Amino acid sequence: MTYDEIRKVFLDYFESRGHKIVPSASLIPNDPTLLFTVAGMVPWKNIFLGLENPPAPRVADVQKCIRAGGKHNDLEDVGFDGRHHTFFEMLGNWSFGDYFKEGAIEMSWDLLTRVIGIDPARLVVTAHESDDEAAEIWRKIAGKDAIRLGKDNWWSAGDTGPCGPCSEIFYDFGENVPGGLPGTPDEDGGRFVEIWNDVFMQYDRDANGNLTPLPKQNVDTGAGLERWAAMLQGKFDNYDTDLFVNLKRAVSDVTGVAETAENKTSFKVITDHLRSVGFAIADGVIPSNSDRGYVIRRILRRAMRHGQILGHNGALLSRLYPALVEQMGVAYPELKTNAAHVVEIITNEENSFADMLNNGMKLLDNELPKIHGNVLPGAVAFKLFDTYGFPLDLTQMILREKNIAVDVPGFESEMAAQKERSRANTRGTKIFWESRTDLPATDDVAKYAPNENMDATVLAILRDGEFIDSADAGDEVEIALDKTNFYGTQGGQVGDMGAIKIGDDVAVTVTEAARAGGIVLHRGTVVKKISVGDTVRTMVDMQNRAATARAHTATHLLQAALRRVLNTDVEQRGSRVAPDSVRFDFLFGRAMTDQEKAAVENMVNEWIGAKMNVAHEEMPIEMAKQRGAMALFGEKYGDVVRVITAGDVSCELCGGTHVYNTGEIMRAKINKEKSISSGIRRITMSVGNLA
Ligand code: ALA
Repeated sequence: MTYDEIRKVFLDYFESRGHKIVPSASLIPNDPTLLFTVAGMVPWKNIFLGLENPPAPRVADVQKCIRAGGKHNDLEDVGFDGRHHTFFEMLGNWSFGDYFKEGAIEMSWDLLTRVIGIDPARLVVTAHESDDEAAEIWRKIAGKDAIRLGKDNWWSAGDTGPCGPCSEIFYDFGENVPGGLPGTPDEDGGRFVEIWNDVFMQYDRDANGNLTPLPKQNVDTGAGLERWAAMLQGKFDNYDTDLFVNLKRAVSDVTGVAETAENKTSFKVITDHLRSVGFAIADGVIPSNSDRGYVIRRILRRAMRHGQILGHNGALLSRLYPALVEQMGVAYPELKTNAAHVVEIITNEENSFADMLNNGMKLLDNELPKIHGNVLPGAVAFKLFDTYGFPLDLTQMILREKNIAVDVPGFESEMAAQKERSRANTRGTKIFWESRTDLPATDDVAKYAPNENMDATVLAILRDGEFIDSADAGDEVEIALDKTNFYGTQGGQVGDMGAIKIGDDVAVTVTEAARAGGIVLHRGTVVKKISVGDTVRTMVDMQNRAATARAHTATHLLQAALRRVLNTDVEQRGSRVAPDSVRFDFLFGRAMTDQEKAAVENMVNEWIGAKMNVAHEEMPIEMAKQRGAMALFGEKYGDVVRVITAGDVSCELCGGTHVYNTGEIMRAKINKEKSISSGIRRITMSVGNLA
């Protein structure tokens, strides 16, 4: 029986026994405790917990599953035997409070022995040590004494959630195959293979391990399709069944290499990884540096390494994907529908790793002769990870072939040091400036009237974490002056650009004015030698400043329009105001409709067209409150505050720079409205020249 035939026999049987047949759910579970759908029961968890209603009391399906990178993780074992897969299909039948142990056992036995015709003498069954009831049913229905097992016959999908005792059915591949009965020390030999697991879901396990009975008694069964194919096609190795034989032929076509006893591990790894990568991306996973995206990236990179072992460099899975569609696209139409997307994503990923893989292997070849004993230093493994994108498990896999281990604690401490460095980076240079208590605060009202340049004196220069007396052309520096009219980044508004001049010459091009406490830092590149004590002239880029002011006033208009159109207390949750561009985050529970977006944009443009005055005023906070000025949630304000009032539509406490008339903004255009986390929306908008 081929894969297609087995799926059909299984589903037809359960349909004839009153089950509703449903399609496979996505590999991306609707369940934060899991990275992937690891078993057929995952999509049904909420039903077992009594939180949702089942589509029918009896259901059957064939579910695509991935077991990699979580509690159920088979990644490291793939390729070394004939049984492990990261991607596999699970045949399953469910009872949601309908039949229980007797019904489940009876149907499993009936399908295997009567319908499919497997010799009962080849089947061995187990039951949990506490489950006399299941053992009794096996005696009655099959005349078999169940082998009683402990934790191997207790099943759960995650550390918490639905679980229960289970009963497994094993197929005996015969005396010629080594291996002992389940529960014996030599059970791993492979002679007896688990082909079906009937789980009697009756408890909910909490984080402390306490078991609470579920509202109903349920049945969850799972049978590995690949194992059934092996059993029914008389193959000991799953990778010798029809589907894999065809995929392996495609690997030979693409690599130009025939399968041999020496390279068969690579054929297994590549065909397995083709399935998990292809199916996961077709279901919406994007390779990335975290969570399931990282698991898929790792799997793809392992596959490429095995391509390299076969002497094949560059694109591999992207070229094999059509073969996957051919083998499985009828059972899983999403492989076809999303084919262009999947191939594009895999191709990008393969292109970006191809060179890194070759260069990383060269580095490894250089390092290996230098190592002492059989351990690769953590620093080398880290360099492979950091510079060449080798996940740790890829390095380990490569070295396992040579019997070399990786110093994992060493790798981890390099990783921790790297994290510390990047934390220091995002904290920026603040820590250095905090030590300079001798410097005056220079963030003051001069920034609001920057039309004139300003004479100033250089007080400090920071380069690479060190204060220096002079900096030369090419140095990246931060400079503090005794006074300045640069606006240093704050309150969501990006700082000014410009220059610091000595005489008529530009000494430093300032790319962004930043801030450390009250000190304004002129960050940029030195063009001409500059020293502490020099007399300089500041020069703010006024066009850039004007573009930022347009964006800032437009942000206030946007907020005012949102409050009117969405008819709610739209609460700001952050913003980024840059030259002619606005990013505005706010609390709102759903996506805006196209009509709402258009109405907000029109309203803002109407206010711009109305050329309203914008007043910039300072006043006691009490007075601002009386005027109804909007303040930011969670922000602290002093006694005297700055209030920006645009016509009669907006009045906000604000420390930013603004236009004096809304007409200066020229135009506003909403580019995007999307969710950034639960309950928080983000609008991006262009104004002025950009709009
Ligand atoms: N949920 C059970 C398993 O995956 C059937 O083995």
